[in-house]
Amino acid sequence: MKPEIIVTGRLLPRTQEALDRIFTCHKLYEAADHPAFLRQHAQQVRALATFGASGADAALMDQLPKLEIISNFGVGVDAIDLAAAAKRRIIVTNTPEVLTDCVADTAMALVLATLRRLPQSENYLRAGQWGTRGAYPLTTSLGGKTLGVLGLGRIGEAIARRALAFGMKIRYHNRSKKNVPYAYDPDVVTLARHADVLLVITPGGPGTYRMVNAKVLDALGPQGFLVNVARGSVVDEATLLRYLQEKKIAGAGLDVFEHEPNVPAAFFALENCVLFPHVGSATVETRKAMGDLQVENLHLHFAGKPVKTPVT
Ligand code: NAP
Ligand code: 8YV
Repeated sequence: MKPEIIVTGRLLPRTQEALDRIFTCHKLYEAADHPAFLRQHAQQVRALATFGASGADAALMDQLPKLEIISNFGVGVDAIDLAAAAKRRIIVTNTPEVLTDCVADTAMALVLATLRRLPQSENYLRAGQWGTRGAYPLTTSLGGKTLGVLGLGRIGEAIARRALAFGMKIRYHNRSKKNVPYAYDPDVVTLARHADVLLVITPGGPGTYRMVNAKVLDALGPQGFLVNVARGSVVDEATLLRYLQEKKIAGAGLDVFEHEPNVPAAFFALENCVLFPHVGSATVETRKAMGDLQVENLHLHFAGKPVKTPVT
């Protein structure tokens, strides 16, 4: 008998096929009536394959009394109630490392796109304005600027390495100081005051909720840029929007939003921001590696072995 699992959202065909070889998969996203679906499978389901914003809350765990493991597609587990899982002795796994370089590439692309206004200048050309209005206005160089990394973890360090190659200086803030050759700031306001570009790459969740607020944006100032590749929840989105409209900061590059995929339409009217639809890890290669690791964790658990990447 294959163990039974629930899959909360559509996976890559390769990942779904790998799961189908080992498990009997029940697809929550195909069910018209979620409560009925959960009632039907509650007593058999031993694992949950979930991702991103779908996560898993305490109410879902309560409905699945045989649940042993939640395997997340993605490194960020802010949508999973970790305390509720620990209380029920449910193992939680994620997909760190395999996406680090890819997300760091996206972050650097967003820094470049935001300071150099690359999407806007392409739109200018496509709209035929190069010929009618002349050269696109001058933008901002990266070289010599200070990148303030809020959350110098696996991805933050990979971004810092890339930014050094662009001639940027690096500072950072974490709760704990690391043994790295970058200047440490004891709080986010001080980091923002020192930074030309404040780059957010912390986890989401209650510990970082709206950490980037009006005080931080004031410290960043009218010449400063904000780039967020972490979670929308880390930034006070309404305040950021107002600061962009009033040009109280120079610009923003955003890969993540508070209520994805819903992005406040007022952002679309702004010339001083670049918006990506949460594509940090979105390459074929990286998504394959994430899916493989998600499946491997489930496989190991049901083979009676320790999982590879537990969330501690
Ligand atoms: P990580 O290695 O755990 O790094 C997280 C860093 O954030 C650590 O250095 C940590 O240091 C710091 N941090 C945590 N809480 C903090 C707080 N309250 N204040 C200041 N710093 C804090 O994680 P990672 O693999 O680099 O991933 C980071 C996050 O990136 C994920 O959790 C996810 O939300 C996001 N992400 C986004 C995308 C995307 O597509 N846009 C893709 C992947 C990941 P301390 O513990 O010392 O504070
Ligand atoms: C994914 C991410 O897009 O790993 C993360 O934390 O945000 C991204 O890699 C997401 O988890 C997939 O839903």
